[in-house]
Amino acid sequence: MPDLLQIGGITDAMRTRLEAAFTIHQLDDFDPAKITHVVTNGHDGVNPDLMASLSNLQVISGYGVGYDAIDANAAFARGIKVTHTPNVLNQEVATTAVLLLLACYREILRDDAYVRSGDWEAKGGAPLTRGADNQTIGILGLGRIGQAIADKLAPWNPTIVYHTRSKKDVDYKYYDNLTAMAHDCDVLICITPGGPSTNKIVNAEVMQALGPNGTLINVSRGSVVDEAAMVDALSCGTLGWAGLDVFEGEPHVPQALRDLPNTVLLPHVGSGTVETRAAMGALTVDNLLQHLKDGTVVSVVPECAML
Ligand code: NAP
Ligand code: 8YV
Repeated sequence: MPDLLQIGGITDAMRTRLEAAFTIHQLDDFDPAKITHVVTNGHDGVNPDLMASLSNLQVISGYGVGYDAIDANAAFARGIKVTHTPNVLNQEVATTAVLLLLACYREILRDDAYVRSGDWEAKGGAPLTRGADNQTIGILGLGRIGQAIADKLAPWNPTIVYHTRSKKDVDYKYYDNLTAMAHDCDVLICITPGGPSTNKIVNAEVMQALGPNGTLINVSRGSVVDEAAMVDALSCGTLGWAGLDVFEGEPHVPQALRDLPNTVLLPHVGSGTVETRAAMGALTVDNLLQHLKDGTVVSVVPECAML
């Protein structure tokens, strides 16, 4: 049987299917020259030195749609196919973005604490919150998930606008300048890939443009937002609220951010439901098994599409 290197965890369902077709090796026990396939995830990716040492590598199958932790260009140059799990998680991640937006607007965490602490009984009704209807919502990255977020927000009657590098064939207003879009928005939702081209593009200037009544939602990658600048902006009130699923050094989240009351923080669970993770796992394995069968894969990343 061909030799598969496992990086990070896999589910029991994935293991059962993989064990029937591969000899699975862990990172502490493998011969680099024998490995032809790798299974990994969005967080661990593949370390460049490790990839360089795998001289017979043919496929890297990633559990997740984001592959910023894998050097897909280096893989392409060596004829290695990198695959990911697009589309099967669009609805779940969109739900997470909407959940964070509503939690910020309606101060769900504060009001939950108000009931639990006995303040409701002791002090009377809780302070009022903000309504989430009729807001101008800027989507940074109107791709598969960005469009699903726009669709899922429809019942709140938003005005959707967006920023990407290239204008899309959609009716929403396009901004070629992110700061200008943030200035016109009540909410900025980040859902681009990570990596060099988006590194800290949500900087102090963008957050200041979003303003004291503005809400920043990040379900993309922690690297997309300048985290130190965000903590400053949220602390001094130049930015109103933040709903975050991803962080620069996750799972470490700076104490200053954890202490802020105007944030809702999630542990990178945008796609984290039983149903969606099962679909991601199935596609991750399908890519590997199809390659064994006929040399093709189901969902290759764009950089490797010509292989
Ligand atoms: P996608 O379909 O490829 O969409 C990406 C969008 O980002 C495109 O509209 C693209 O348009 C835009 N974009 C790329 N680089 C940009 C840049 N430098 N500046 C502005 N816009 C840029 O990807 P997707 O399937 O929607 O996934 C998006 C990302 O979400 C993933 O890569 C991953 O990082 C993140 N994600 C997070 C979770 C979670 O659990 N929180 C789950 C799934 C995915 P242009 O190319 O025209 O710029
Ligand atoms: C995963 C994600 O949880 O798909 C992505 O890009 O961020 C999440 O769905 C992550 O990749 C870990 O595998």
